[in-house]
Amino acid sequence: MERKLISARCGVINPLSIDDYIKTGGYVALRKALRMERIEILEEISDSKLRGRGGAGFLTSTKMMGLAKESGPMKYIVCNADEGEPGNFKDRFLIENDPHQIIEGMAIIAFATRANHGYIYVRGEYDHAIEVLQWTLLEARKHKFLGNNIMDSDFSFDIELRSGAGSYVCGEEFALIESIEGKPGRTRVKPPFPTSIGLFGKPTLIQNVETLVNIPAILTMGGKAYSKIGMPNCTGTKLISLSGNVKNKGVYEIPFGISIRKVIFELGGGIENNKKLKMVQLGGACGPFIPEYMLDMLIDYERFEEFESKTGAGAIIVVDDRFDLFDLMLRVVRFFEHESCGKCTPCREGHAQLVILLQKFIDKKASMKDLISIESLARVMHQTALCGLGQSSPTAIISTLRYFRDEYIDRCDIWTN
Ligand SMILES: Cc1cc2nc3c(=O)[nH]c(=O)nc-3n(C[C@H](O)[C@H](O)[C@H](O)COP(=O)(O)O)c2cc1C
Ligand code: SF4
Repeated sequence: MERKLISARCGVINPLSIDDYIKTGGYVALRKALRMERIEILEEISDSKLRGRGGAGFLTSTKMMGLAKESGPMKYIVCNADEGEPGNFKDRFLIENDPHQIIEGMAIIAFATRANHGYIYVRGEYDHAIEVLQWTLLEARKHKFLGNNIMDSDFSFDIELRSGAGSYVCGEEFALIESIEGKPGRTRVKPPFPTSIGLFGKPTLIQNVETLVNIPAILTMGGKAYSKIGMPNCTGTKLISLSGNVKNKGVYEIPFGISIRKVIFELGGGIENNKKLKMVQLGGACGPFIPEYMLDMLIDYERFEEFESKTGAGAIIVVDDRFDLFDLMLRVVRFFEHESCGKCTPCREGHAQLVILLQKFIDKKASMKDLISIESLARVMHQTALCGLGQSSPTAIISTLRYFRDEYIDRCDIWTN
């Protein structure tokens, strides 16, 4: 069931050895790219129908074309390795096990779009990943895969490493830009989008780690062949971070279109300690909780979007029946209350109110009026918050009101106003 396209070297090669990477086909795609016309590279990526793997699932070629069209002396490529979403650890897995793939993907995109400088923005808590990246950048420069005149061509491109300071919202593209610029990590109002006015006011392309490592694979196999893997509108493979009460936790690479049930029961080996599955959270803390009867849903961005949220980063968190729904939701909401940057009212004030309301359900002191309040507040936050944090953080509540409504009603004191 696994299809190892971008994780084939993981656990097989020594990630610190550039020779191992080269011996297993590494940097062949970059060499090929340097002999192609820039537009041909963009067309291959367009043919592949690759969509971003950082959560929003936006068409990568559209963003790349946007950057390629921009003129000016300075254009940036940024690799988003912030991975602050609880339950996600696939970017760390890629960095720690096959880091040169990221450099190769960034260099190919930089060449195709005429970008001259790159940044990798990595989560500050990822100590080992940071060390691996530092070493990888040195090795790549030493072997002329980065720096001036890459592989003796007239193309020059280098990458700097920046680490975050533990803020979840810095994974959001404008907050990330502000953070690299040395400011507090807060979003900006869009448009303009980063591809026209981004880092230091210059055109900038921001892509997730997993998106970038797909680029060498696409150039190697060809965009059309790549587009045949997975689903028609959701092509290629997806790394899944599988965790929670499941036997075999870990990162798995599957083609899009496999059911959640198969991932949990075939790859994950089922629920640990012979417990019963209660629910599954998709995508991470910002994703929906779904009940057991929905596990046959296929992993595909369009299905996930039915939950009024973009939850495609690929986490599957399994929860057995020992856990209380409201306890988990309170943890989720408290996490976002802490991570809110405070710039907009729906998110800054909304999380504090959600905590109060959830506590009432936990204490069994909620009324039907509280049920209406929690529902309308979650929806208002989803629709009016300035950035994706406040827009997606109420997803857990919105989804449980849909699929576990009885549990809310059971906790309501119907005689209280
Ligand atoms: C609050 C918030 C946190 C985010 N965190 C990450 C992250 O850690 N990594 C990531 O790649 N994208 C993250 N994103 C999505 C990015 O804003 C952006 O869409 C993504 O990096 C684009 O890359 P892609 O097109 O390759 O997915 C986050 C978005 C929001 C709103
Ligand atoms: S939604 Fe939250 S994190 Fe985003 S800008 Fe508003 S306050 Fe900041």
